[in-house]
Amino acid sequence: MADLPKSFCIESVSKSDSCLSVSWADGHSSRFHPIWLRHQCNCPQCGTPVNAVRGIRLHHLEESPTFSIETQQQDHIILHWTDEHHHSRYESKWLRQYCYDEPSRQQRRHQPLLWDASIIDHLPTMDLVECESSDAQRLEMLKTVHDYGFCKVSNAPTDAKQATRLINIVGQQRQSHYGTYTLSNKEAVDNVGDISDALDPHVDETYRLSTIGITVFQVLRPSQKGGESTLVDGFEAARQLRELFPDDFNLLTRVPITGCRRDPAQNSAGNVKWYESTLPIIRVDFDGIVTGVRCNERQIMPLDLPFDLIEPTYSALKRFYQILYQPNLQITLALKAGEGLIFDNQRLLHGRTAFTPETPARSVLTSSVDLEEFHSAYRLLHEQIHGEPLPFRLRQGMMA
Ligand SMILES: [Fe+2]
Ligand SMILES: [Zn+2]
Repeated sequence: MADLPKSFCIESVSKSDSCLSVSWADGHSSRFHPIWLRHQCNCPQCGTPVNAVRGIRLHHLEESPTFSIETQQQDHIILHWTDEHHHSRYESKWLRQYCYDEPSRQQRRHQPLLWDASIIDHLPTMDLVECESSDAQRLEMLKTVHDYGFCKVSNAPTDAKQATRLINIVGQQRQSHYGTYTLSNKEAVDNVGDISDALDPHVDETYRLSTIGITVFQVLRPSQKGGESTLVDGFEAARQLRELFPDDFNLLTRVPITGCRRDPAQNSAGNVKWYESTLPIIRVDFDGIVTGVRCNERQIMPLDLPFDLIEPTYSALKRFYQILYQPNLQITLALKAGEGLIFDNQRLLHGRTAFTPETPARSVLTSSVDLEEFHSAYRLLHEQIHGEPLPFRLRQGMMA
């Protein structure tokens, strides 16, 4: 107990206004509501939300259960719930980690590192072989993707048979309706990724409710002329829209826009699909932080909104796309064979410059990992290396 950090060391506890007040050795103080404490009792009888084996039921609890402080130690407290004759023990570290005063809540908000075209001079880059052989490097890669929304990868295989090596360092592969798809120049085109014209920056699959989280591109054979990848930080664009046109920003966080996709069988390994999803194109969380963007103007269906919102919505969309397409937000990467990109498809927009079709054809392998699988891998590896959970919440993307 001697080596308990000051921030986890309880100095004193008291009751005030029916709440529990805790003073910590580092000078911080916290307040906890009785209902919050009672609900999170994790004695064998009450159980724990971590595995969802819980005996406790909210409707059996008082709105403000009465308690007395039975034991107070540096590293734990025990409360007695007087009406129920129930005892709950709370570890000091747990209390501090879940303390919900405003400064503590702020600390748990992850601040993404926004970027513009100048990031080209210090491009986040990781080496696949190093990530495979070192957990610390792999954790650094996951952190980079979460902070910047992407990282470039070098030293990846050019052999399609080894494609799983790159995806495996990110997380469990998503089973897409496309299967593992190789983007190339095809005769019958029903996927714009297969066209040789330039592609404006966009988010993939805005027609899906559970859209792609992390996209992994792996260049097996680049084109000799053109075909460079472009990336834009959708969060930086949203920040600019919010600063310049706050009303437009607010509108786009509210109005639902439908993305649609009908996939014929030849495109999706025999699976005919008809997807539609109707969601705002900018998502902010309870704290007002942008957690996802969903911008693909090629996939916008007719707006279904009140009459008076049609023109304001178009004007907001135009302004947002104008910002998103600004050259000073965009980077262009000429990826070579054996290089790849890992990026957050719910934050970044990606595109491609035009290329000249040739034989053998340009070949880029694309696969994906659901956001929550990426998060799961990140949480587990962080805990494995640091012995502690991540000190902040991971960004939730487009899902509410
Ligand atoms: Fe795409
Ligand atoms: Zn209990």
